[in-house]
Amino acid sequence: MADRLAQWSEMQGGLTCTYFSNAHQAVAQDLRTWMRSAGLRAEIDAVGNVVGRYESTAPGARTLIVGSHYDTVANAGRYDGRLGILTALVVAEELVRAQQQLPFHLEVIGFAEEEGVRFSAPYIGSSVVAGRFDAALLQRSDSKGVSLGTVLHEHSVDLTTIERLARRPQSLRGYLEIHIEQGPQLLERDLPLGIVTSIAGAVRCRIAIEGVAGHAGTVPMALRHDAAAAAAEIVLAVEQRCAAVPGLVGTVGQIEVPHGLINVIPGRCEFSLDVRATDDTTRDAAIADIRAAIEEITKRRGVTAVITEIARHSAVPCAPAMQQAFAQAVARAGIAPFHLASGAGHDAEQFAGVTDIGMLFVRCGNGGISHNPLETITADDADIAARVLLDVITNLH
Ligand code: HGY
Ligand code: MN
Ligand code: MN
Repeated sequence: MADRLAQWSEMQGGLTCTYFSNAHQAVAQDLRTWMRSAGLRAEIDAVGNVVGRYESTAPGARTLIVGSHYDTVANAGRYDGRLGILTALVVAEELVRAQQQLPFHLEVIGFAEEEGVRFSAPYIGSSVVAGRFDAALLQRSDSKGVSLGTVLHEHSVDLTTIERLARRPQSLRGYLEIHIEQGPQLLERDLPLGIVTSIAGAVRCRIAIEGVAGHAGTVPMALRHDAAAAAAEIVLAVEQRCAAVPGLVGTVGQIEVPHGLINVIPGRCEFSLDVRATDDTTRDAAIADIRAAIEEITKRRGVTAVITEIARHSAVPCAPAMQQAFAQAVARAGIAPFHLASGAGHDAEQFAGVTDIGMLFVRCGNGGISHNPLETITADDADIAARVLLDVITNLH
């Protein structure tokens, strides 16, 4: 099924599927078709989430949401996000086939936008359902200068429509997500599954260094205010500071000299910064030190820096009751329950504080690589994940 969805891509020879592209809309249609064939009432909501529902007959039933995202990073693997939707889909299909009566409604949701690739705004789909959508994101523009608000408006979606999609917290029984680990821990322990304890909180910034453009051949090195050289020193400072503390990570994933030329000293350099840790205090201390390093480097080099924070998400715990439900089901499957923290962000974090959240990780092959076409899992591990999810859902009250 993941291979089928990966056929829809914005690039030749790889998988890129970003918010509201043609590929993205084709995936949404496939998911809706598959949800309906599984016996769910399925619709694509106003912001592109694909929602499949299996009603309970219990009076006053609340809703358990099980889902993940179907958008991808550029040149992505085919399981990040999608494994969680497909696992929930096949489990729902089995519940419908067995006419299993649940004490809660079950909603399988394919969230439309988690990675934040097109508008630098992660978690759009899940934040709308969780009632946490930040209206300021409507102003965010893509690389062609088209704003999120304009794209939604083209699909006749406004803020009122968005707010109507929010679930009332008291109507929710919980939120569960199956996701690939995107790291090596399960692989190293030869475990197919792991129970997630917490989800790291990321702060993301855009940084612009303003120096002085000049002739690459005539300006002596000592007289330069080279924006790219300053940026390079800052990238190394990020790496050094974040390597100092276990569980703290810092990444400069994008860096460019706008309109740069081979024979011109860079007058401007723009780059991204993503810093995360398992707790916000560790992360924020690192950011303070990185800001101080930027101050020192730019002053010494006679350049200036503008730092714009574009996202701030707190580290969140998974509910102990959901961790226990997964651990018991994993044990019943004959697997030693292993708990681990998530360094990656997930849609689940949008539901923390709204309802009980739980996550189950599935082993990644190829050293645990992800956000890379080498991302891989085995069908056996996907199978055992589905069986554990089925067990958790049928034993939840
Ligand atoms: O960036 C992340 O952690 C996730 O892949 N959105
Ligand atoms: Mn991802
Ligand atoms: Mn993901």
